[in-house]
Amino acid sequence: MAEEERGISRRKLIGYGWLAATAVIVGELIGGTLAYLWPKIKEKPGEKILIAGKIDDFQVGKVVLFRKEKVFINRMAEGFMAMSAICTHLRCVVRWTEPREVFECPCHGAKFNPVGEVLEGPPPRPMDLYPIEIVEDKIVVDINKPIQRKSYHRSQLVSA
Ligand code: FES
Repeated sequence: MAEEERGISRRKLIGYGWLAATAVIVGELIGGTLAYLWPKIKEKPGEKILIAGKIDDFQVGKVVLFRKEKVFINRMAEGFMAMSAICTHLRCVVRWTEPREVFECPCHGAKFNPVGEVLEGPPPRPMDLYPIEIVEDKIVVDINKPIQRKSYHRSQLVSA
């Protein structure tokens, strides 16, 4: 009888151990996910802001995609540009093809140059822009409403 009681309490102890380990793992998963998502977007009613990172996080000549927000940030020698990754034809998500230095749309074969101008395909206008502000050496992008444009102009760049 005494051994049986000891066996049961050992089993319970192991059960509590598994329960505690499971709680730690679930807590880590939830906490990690929230920590990953939380700092990217600060959203108030009617306001969506992407804090993309520090100026020095972006290399000149490189394009960075913020997948969740569907925003490309392109740092050129003259400044920064934030563009919507949504194709201006029928709203597919375009991708940056670094070796060819073009944005390509997988749906109908459109191509855009690094400043978002249409090179080929059916889109009626360049890729849409998002306003950028540099606040204390951070790139802050207003992703409330993309700005449509007819062409690229150097004034669309924001210098650091
Ligand atoms: S949706 Fe991009 S080319 Fe048609």
